[in-house]
Amino acid sequence: MTIQKATNITWHDGAITKSDRERLIQQKGVVIWFTGLSSSGKSTIARAVEERLFERGHQSYVLDGDNIRHGLNKNLGFSPEDREENIRRIGEVAKLFADAGFVTMTAFISPYRKDRDRNRELLKKGEFIEVFVKVSLDVAEERDPKGLYKKARAGEIKEFTGISAPYEEPLNPELILDTDKLDLTQCQDAVIRYLVENGIISANEKG
Ligand code: ADX
Repeated sequence: MTIQKATNITWHDGAITKSDRERLIQQKGVVIWFTGLSSSGKSTIARAVEERLFERGHQSYVLDGDNIRHGLNKNLGFSPEDREENIRRIGEVAKLFADAGFVTMTAFISPYRKDRDRNRELLKKGEFIEVFVKVSLDVAEERDPKGLYKKARAGEIKEFTGISAPYEEPLNPELILDTDKLDLTQCQDAVIRYLVENGIISANEKG
């Protein structure tokens, strides 16, 4: 649990609200929370969805694990406590982006259910879309684009998710993308379809 250290602070709302911004840019501000093992395809899918949204004239932004750990979260490692703090900060940042009206996508392993659920609680119903990027450990290990599973098996990386640290699958995700079976286009289609069907973006001729 993170302690509130600052006292004598007051929350200020501006005259322009989230729904004003949403009306201006013709979309809903949401968080698409991708979760899954390393090499499951989270970042690749988020980037691909971002391209589709851009083509359709929508504002979106991807917060990506490896990138954020170079900056905002460079002081955090991979212990359970540090992962919790990593995910807590990202949840807060993603909430700000959603408040700005963006279709915000986060691509973090986020292995602990309670950390993901806490971030869901930060948003209104329907604004947190949990997408489980499902992959078998075998396939993730075969892909291993960064050679990390190999290092983890050799004991060179400690607490590696799926090998020596846990991954807790979502119990009730809004979407499951099984990347053992679906190709990138099918994953993109599924996310865009979800956004259209739930009124987050409008349907257009591309469906
Ligand atoms: S999370 O568990 O805190 O959500 P995050 O998504 O930010 O993790 O970072 C995961 C990325 O860090 C992996 O894709 C991988 O490139 C790298 N990494 C380095 N060490 C580890 C580790 N011990 N466990 C998992 N990923 C690691």
